[in-house]
Amino acid sequence: AQIQWFPGHMAKARNQVQEKLKLVDLVLEVVDARVPEASRNPMMNQIVGQKPRIMVLNKKDLADPQKTAEWLSYYRAQGFEAIAIDAQHAKRLQQIPQLARQMMKAKLEKQKARGIRNPGLRAMCIGIPNVGKSTVLNRLVKKNIAVTGNRPGVTKNQQWLKSDETFMLLDTPGILWPKFEDALVGNKLALTGAIADTVYQADSVGLFGLGFFQREYPQALRKAYGLNDDDMAQTPADLMVTLSQKMGFGEEFNRAAERVIFDARQGKFGPFTLEVPGDLDGHAE
Ligand code: G4P
Repeated sequence: AQIQWFPGHMAKARNQVQEKLKLVDLVLEVVDARVPEASRNPMMNQIVGQKPRIMVLNKKDLADPQKTAEWLSYYRAQGFEAIAIDAQHAKRLQQIPQLARQMMKAKLEKQKARGIRNPGLRAMCIGIPNVGKSTVLNRLVKKNIAVTGNRPGVTKNQQWLKSDETFMLLDTPGILWPKFEDALVGNKLALTGAIADTVYQADSVGLFGLGFFQREYPQALRKAYGLNDDDMAQTPADLMVTLSQKMGFGEEFNRAAERVIFDARQGKFGPFTLEVPGDLDGHAE
């Protein structure tokens, strides 16, 4: 589902997330492994504050494994726990509750010492639209339970989902807005399908994508479209013209651009990652 973000909506979203944060012990910040930074909410650190956090790099099946490894190291170096998953295939998902228990060991032991028999952890997923929050949530859950609130702020209809005996998740994820103010971020989010097709120009996103694959994954691009050395030596704009002709679109270059976007999302150029931690050097957080 796509959400139109206006200042009022952003304030409301932020308030909703902050209310829910009071109910949980830790946060699962879900991002798209192809664009770990571009798919983060710009105010995430402020909003989440000191609450323990696991960075969940989702859609790892679509991302470049080597770059995913770099991002995991990057987040761990910042003091977060971090894990890469493919939420569509639940295999490694149980590592999330394990990781959470490991991270919250001190708290759990304190609770045990106080005589609480089955100390549990409560968590929530937060992220921008389309990163896979609902998929992660649904795959983690084994059964639905209604927990009556003995904590401040727990409303009667607050539902918790049970992942296992000691790990519970808030039933709805926290949804925050992406970084729209940056054109490069916009291109990345559009190319990966995180923002609606109606809100960007296919020709510029397609051109961005083509230039990216030409530079970063030339073999994959060459193979996907049967390109030769001369084609590959062209500027992205000229290559788009060549492609458009090859695809039978003539001078309807926007159709070639749309095809490039479609093909990238479908994985025709293989797994890819649009940014690496080094790109952030010199950027302010
Ligand atoms: P959200 O709650 O954060 O908004 O995201 P949601 O779970 O709805 O997931 C957004 C899209 O991403 C869905 O596809 C979902 O199937 C897909 N997705 C989620 N996790 C993964 C993953 O690990 N790998 C891959 N490849 N895809 C993932 P959709 O196109 O909206 O729907 P559909 O194609 O599943 O019908």
